[in-house]
Amino acid sequence: MNSPVMQGLPIQAPAHVKNAKLIAWVADMAALCKPKDIYWCDGSQEEYDRLCQLLVDAGTFKKLDTAKRPNSFLAWSDPSDVARVEDRTYICSQHKEDAGPTNNWMAPAEMRKTLQPLFDGCMKGRTMYVVPFSMGPLGSPIAHIGIELSDSPYVAVNMKIMTRMGKGVYDVLGVDGEFVPCVHTVGAPLEDGQKDTTSWPCNKTKYIVHYPETREIWSYGSGYGGNALLGKKCFALRIASTMGRDQGWLAEHMLILGVTNPQGKKYHVAAAFPSACGKTNFAMLIPPAGFDGWKVTTIGDDIAWVKPGADGKLRAINPEAGYFGVAPGTNTLTNPNCMASLDRDVIFTNVALTDDNDVWWEGMGDAPAHAIDWQGKDWTPAIAKETGAKAAHPNARFTVAAANNPALDEAWDDPAGVVIDAFIFGGRRSTTVPLVTEARSWTEGVYMAATMGSETTAAAFGQQGVVRRDPFAMLPFMGYNMSDYFQHWLNLGKKLEATGAKLPAIFTTNWFRKGEDGKFVWPGYGENMRVLKWMIDRIEGQAAGDEHVFGISPKYNELNWTGLDFTAEQFKSVTSIDKAAWLAELKLHDELFTQLAYHLPAELTATKAQIEQRLTA
Ligand code: GTP
Ligand code: SPV
Ligand code: MN
Repeated sequence: MNSPVMQGLPIQAPAHVKNAKLIAWVADMAALCKPKDIYWCDGSQEEYDRLCQLLVDAGTFKKLDTAKRPNSFLAWSDPSDVARVEDRTYICSQHKEDAGPTNNWMAPAEMRKTLQPLFDGCMKGRTMYVVPFSMGPLGSPIAHIGIELSDSPYVAVNMKIMTRMGKGVYDVLGVDGEFVPCVHTVGAPLEDGQKDTTSWPCNKTKYIVHYPETREIWSYGSGYGGNALLGKKCFALRIASTMGRDQGWLAEHMLILGVTNPQGKKYHVAAAFPSACGKTNFAMLIPPAGFDGWKVTTIGDDIAWVKPGADGKLRAINPEAGYFGVAPGTNTLTNPNCMASLDRDVIFTNVALTDDNDVWWEGMGDAPAHAIDWQGKDWTPAIAKETGAKAAHPNARFTVAAANNPALDEAWDDPAGVVIDAFIFGGRRSTTVPLVTEARSWTEGVYMAATMGSETTAAAFGQQGVVRRDPFAMLPFMGYNMSDYFQHWLNLGKKLEATGAKLPAIFTTNWFRKGEDGKFVWPGYGENMRVLKWMIDRIEGQAAGDEHVFGISPKYNELNWTGLDFTAEQFKSVTSIDKAAWLAELKLHDELFTQLAYHLPAELTATKAQIEQRLTA
């Protein structure tokens, strides 16, 4: 099964692998990376179990209690490798302008020269896993294939959950099919006789590199999340966004949900919130009291591929097959569907281990009297109080198959996708931005999305709690020049309009406004259903709303308040528009537009001028 690599000799591919380009590329990469052997993943359950056992034997995985958490494992990463590394992420297009001012850029030739010595021999002493995967249902016209080569068995088992991974991919690929080549190494070669001294090998030096023109991904030095599971951010967002630009579709950092009213009418909504700002929560929402007969179902929780049809409708698929979600803050009250998804078959990373061999994280519920924290240290509530030590890392995650979600939408795997009725863009802002606003036009919606700001969280590199502009929640995930992407959205709107079809409505939300006591005013989570229902009322022409300087927000009595004690006063404090705050906000839009001046669509500057005019009128 594991075929040894004899340097300089052709490699042995299994008989079912018939793609000549793939075999040649694997041979080239093996010659460069010099693994001790090559293992071609078949995606079977037997293989998954075997690799998990291998990870247990290596100390990377701890097997959790089989009664409490069947078929589940816990991994602790190196403390230096706990999140995506945005400052080490590169878009290497031929021209710097094509990467744009929001991306790190290096000329492809220079980057190749930089990576060559790093990758030379980088897999020594390790197995190179060949991981075939499809983003989207196998064979769907919207799906695309990738092959990830990785020296991390942790990556191989995570990819099995997160993508359609396995042998079937080779049938779709055939002898001459296209695939996106993705190379990943933890960057920790082992010399002859050398053994790992850590259960999470990685390298201080990290490079997450994309070549958009040749559609290649090269990742060095990290084993964590979006840095290493290359189907996710690297392929499904950064490379796919450039494919979408060239081919007329969209790759977005969006959840997709279905919402069915008591009459059985179903709508589909795609929502872009920045990392750790509530996509998984919203995608699995359970309607609260007062919403009898309403149902929300999950199609995706992180990424949407959206394609226009000849009928002028936008159809979306979730390219992923699992959830790599934020654990801290998740509990049976805020997200019962998510908690139920985590009952079994889960890989946890960087949460705490309890004395009864289960997991715990901040915000899960009552703290255990004792646990081992994500760094392997003793943790007690008293220690936490004294030192502030967290049992789980704030960016601790779970990996679980979509099939585990009790609210999974029946169409989640439909190769044709679902028709989108509305887009939502929602940042995390403690002030200024109202609970919900509808754009009056596609252009106004694109403006809202383009100028979205959000307070940074642990999923992103850098300081927490600082407002940064995060256009379309895509700042860390854009594969090309941000302003060209705005233009792409505007062009798509015009194209859809020309068909005479009704365009999806566009909304912006903010669940995170705080009161003077520093606490969130809006109860959020399941209660967000009240806002979702108002959006549907707007689509159906059943809510007039209040028009203001940059859109339409609900009147207090337009939301269904059954089962929730939320006063008109409180409502005002999450929907009010403070003129001074908005004048200051527009200055920040100005700064963004100055940064993005190259190719910035004139429509957006014009929209800004209109808002300014209304504000000062
Ligand atoms: P990525 O996987 O990083 O792209 O993030 P995500 O958008 O899926 O984030 P997720 O749903 O996991 O959100 C995580 C954080 O948002 C947790 O701290 C939650 O408690 C918080 N959160 C989610 N929904 C709400 C809400 O409605 N209100 C408030 N106040 N917090 C929320
Ligand atoms: C995000 O940061 O938006 C994620 C997690 O979804 S990761 O896959 O690590 O990028
Ligand atoms: Mn994400």
